[in-house]
Order: sequence, then structure tokens, then C-alpha cells
Amino acid sequence: MSDSSSRTRARLILDCDPGHDDAVAIVAAARYADLVGITTVAGNAPLEQTTYNARVMRDLLGIDVPVHSGAHRPIVEHPQPADFVHGASGLDGADLPEPTTPLDGTNAVEFIVDTCRAEEGLWLVPTGPLTNIALALRMAPDLADRVAGISLMGGGTHGNRFPMAEFNIWADPEAANIVYTAPGRLIMAGLDVTHQFQATPGRIAQVAALPGRLAAVLADLFTYFSNNYLSRHDPGTIEGAAIHDPLAVLAITHPEVFTSVARHVQVELRGSVTRGMTVIDLRQITDRPAPNCEVLATVDADAAFEVVRAAIEHYSTP
Ligand code: RIB
Ligand code: CA
Repeated sequence: MSDSSSRTRARLILDCDPGHDDAVAIVAAARYADLVGITTVAGNAPLEQTTYNARVMRDLLGIDVPVHSGAHRPIVEHPQPADFVHGASGLDGADLPEPTTPLDGTNAVEFIVDTCRAEEGLWLVPTGPLTNIALALRMAPDLADRVAGISLMGGGTHGNRFPMAEFNIWADPEAANIVYTAPGRLIMAGLDVTHQFQATPGRIAQVAALPGRLAAVLADLFTYFSNNYLSRHDPGTIEGAAIHDPLAVLAITHPEVFTSVARHVQVELRGSVTRGMTVIDLRQITDRPAPNCEVLATVDADAAFEVVRAAIEHYSTP
């Protein structure tokens, strides 16, 4: 694994809905990128909870990063939190400290637009429903040309919330459609790659062996998340929870651990059973639409987890 410190550090805004795996994405982004801001969106839990959880993670890491809350609900759909996965709090399963650092703002969309207009070349890294990103693109049509790109977690050739719909895309398909039809670079960490990256018992043990409260909290969160996944999947089909969201960060900071393919991807808005599906054109015939997305295909899971473990260790060393 190449030394990421030899690479120019990406500067990014993480738009998230913590969420167990979003919490890991915050750690990875803080360690390996210049985390310019954290914006929150309703998704795994209501906005109040995802925002509270982002503040908890900020304080656990002891980082000076602004947190701005965003959309309370999707553009058209009603909020449909995934409490059956993440619990009512959005981060069930660990003894979390009360956050003390105050919220920096309640208009994430404005923060995203203003920050990207003040500085060219930022990455937008959404790991929840795409509501904030879509509203920012609608508010500022110049945004897509000003950012380095969008690296999102979402979609796939199959679903999780429904047979053909992954949660982040399904929760706000209209927002996803705005993102997938915007100009500019788009990287997609879909379920096909994130299911290769699981919180196995051995990996959880590596985190639990680290000192300090952050590692203890994350080990407990991994355990809760994995127990939830194992209870909801056919026996023997998985070894632990898919740690989806940090892969959208590592796609930028550690691209060497992935392979990807350029594909045309569009979002289904009208299907009675496929609404929220990412329709990925896998055809090998030449008469097909030009690609609009770099779809992550494989990940070196051991290498990627070592990147995550080292980030946790970095913030755990007394
Ligand atoms: O489908 C997985 C995605 O939905 C992850 O981002 C998880 O945090 C939830 O938001
Ligand atoms: Ca998420």
C-alpha cells in the first residue's frame, strides 16, 4: 500500500447520515484528507440525530471541523429512517459521549455552495441520501465545474432496502437523479464493492485492541452493526456488516486499493418495483451511452481495512 502522505491531500466536504459506517467515513476523512466540513442529512435517522451523531464523532476525534446540518427530508419522498439497521439513535450499540462542540450552522446547502465557490477543486463526498448535494447543484449550477468531483456511496447492480434499490439512492431518487445527470467527475461506491468490505470478527478485534475511548466506541459500533447484519442475512452469506461509507473516502485518498470501470448509470424514478435503482449499463456492445460514472468494482479489503485501522489508531494513541 503506497504511503498516502506522499500524495497531495484531497480537500473534501463529507455529507453524511451517521450511521455506523458514516462514523468510520468521518475517521478516514479526518485522517487522510483535509476535512473542510461535515454536512448532515436525514437518512439512517432523522436529521436531528444524524447531526448529533456527527458532532459526537467530531468530539471523539478532537478535530476542528465545522458541522452544518442540512435537509430534514428528501426532495419528494418522506423520510424513511433505517432504524431497523442503525437503531433509533442512528448510532446504537455504544456508550457515546455527549457532544460539547456546538453546531456551526443549519444550512448545509449554503455552506457547500459558499465553500466550493470560495475554493476550487474540493471533493464532495456524500455517504447518505443525496438531498443536500442535489439542492446545492440546483442552487449553484456552476458547482459541478468548480469541484474536483463527487465520490458517493450508493447504488449498485442490486439493492439492499429493496431488491433493486440501495438505501441512499432509494431514500431520495430525485436527488440522486440530479447528481447522476450533473456534469463533472462522479465516483460510485455501490453495494457490489462495499459488500466486499466487511467488519469481520478479526477486524473488529483489531480495533478493540487499540487504546482509548474512540477505539472502544468504534469496536462496539462495529459489533452492533455486524450483529444486525448477521441477524438479517442468510446464514453463511456474510462474515460481518458491510462497511460501506469509508470506501467513498478511500476512493479519493487510496485509489490504489480499488479497481473501477467507466459506465453509464442512470436512476430509475418511475418503476413500480424499481424506483431508486441505479441502472448501470454493463453491455459490451459499442452502441451504448457514454459513461458518466466511475463504478468501483473491486477493493483489496485487507489493505483498505488496514487504512481504516491505522486511522483509528492515529486518533487513539494517548
Ligand atoms: O446502503 C448503505 C448506505 O445506507 C450507507 O451509507 C448506510 O450508512 C446507509 O446510509
Ligand atoms: Ca450513510
